[in-house]
Amino acid sequence: MSLKIGVPKETASGETRVAVVPKVAAKLVKLGVDLHIQKGAGQASRIPDSAFGDNATIASRQTDVFDADVVLAVNVPAPTKIAKMKRGAILICFVQAHQNPEAVEALQKAGVTCFAMELIPRITRAQSMDALSSQAAAAGYKCALIAADSLPRFLPMLTTAAGTIRPAKVLVIGAGVAGLQAIATANRLGAKVFAYDVRTDTKEQVESLGAEFLIAEGVKAEGEGGYARELTDEEKQKQQDMLADNMTDADAVITTAAVPGKPAPKIISEAMVDGMKPGSVLVDLGASGGGNCELTEPDKTVTRNNVTIIGPSNVPAMLAEHASEMYAQNLSNLLSLMLRESEDQSTSAKGIKIHELAIDWDDAVIDGAVLMRDGEAASDAARNALSNSDPNSS
Ligand SMILES: NC(=O)c1ccc[n+]([C@@H]2O[C@H](COP(=O)([O-])OP(=O)(O)OC[C@H]3O[C@@H](n4cnc5c(N)ncnc54)[C@H](O)[C@@H]3O)[C@@H](O)[C@H]2O)c1
Repeated sequence: MSLKIGVPKETASGETRVAVVPKVAAKLVKLGVDLHIQKGAGQASRIPDSAFGDNATIASRQTDVFDADVVLAVNVPAPTKIAKMKRGAILICFVQAHQNPEAVEALQKAGVTCFAMELIPRITRAQSMDALSSQAAAAGYKCALIAADSLPRFLPMLTTAAGTIRPAKVLVIGAGVAGLQAIATANRLGAKVFAYDVRTDTKEQVESLGAEFLIAEGVKAEGEGGYARELTDEEKQKQQDMLADNMTDADAVITTAAVPGKPAPKIISEAMVDGMKPGSVLVDLGASGGGNCELTEPDKTVTRNNVTIIGPSNVPAMLAEHASEMYAQNLSNLLSLMLRESEDQSTSAKGIKIHELAIDWDDAVIDGAVLMRDGEAASDAARNALSNSDPNSS
């Protein structure tokens, strides 16, 4: 029997992405799987059901995708939907267990195995599965466009008969995957770009994109695994003093700073915003984690003294088609790692050799990404979520 894969329509507010796009559906079908996509799942990404052709069955009922052997999703489904899954089935999606303990509880009750996309180790071999990076790249690109679009100014230098316009100054804070894309995009649009990161190792990458790297003297916060660590109060002050100086003449500030497993670091104070020029814009990519700026309100645009502060919480969803395409590729690469040609050499209804699940639990990528195994906590993220979940919830 072919492995049944189900792809639900996402239901989180503001979510427009879909876990499988037609190009990836065609790849999966070559593995002899039986793909079921919920009716209208791609619609918000402008992918009509018909685009899947005969590579997928369009399921009109939600149950027909949740009773699959493997469910592929963008966000963790609601507990009521997880309850519809078969015991021992596999769910692969973003979970953010610390924010969704009730989902982890539902996975436990349903006896489901879950791989969390945010847990995939950032190792070279797993780069093609790294959805944090693919979605951060989409977010970084788009937030530079949001800044450009919200400014009452040009980004490039313009020499016209009506006079010369000077290039806008864009300051990008945080030069990880998203920040580097924001730098590259703002630079392509002709802005003069400055960037800052607590990891001074990023200087070279920033400069290779044509931007100038800013240094806060005495602040160097490389943490474990190439990530940043939280700053001490003294370091925070030094950083803020340096940034405040650079923000006074910035036209746009884009903040992308994050510390894994922690709320977004608060870097921009109200006073720093008050020091910005009227008409300037701050785009806070940290909004979903509480914001890098004290004034950010998730999914709102706030104006303070003629400075616009924008806090979009799901920027990849604003680039739904390509963000979905990259995410679907990441999922398919992870799933391929779990499959092998079936031993009995049987073929699918389409005459393709069937692949079956053969998970190597010792593989570093599998071991890193598994959140729950057959309903048992298989990671610290799951254990912490379960110990924090409400014992009275049913
Ligand atoms: N080897 C791989 O496969 C792989 C894949 C992806 C990313 N990475 C590495 O992981 C690292 C971070 O990636 P990410 O983009 O997911 O990071 P992230 O989203 O966790 O953080 C974004 C950036 O914010 C910075 N930051 C944190 N606190 C800050 C502060 N107070 N002020 C200014 N900046 C602050 C971080 O240093 C980071 O560069 C990078 O070194 C990247 O090269 C490796």
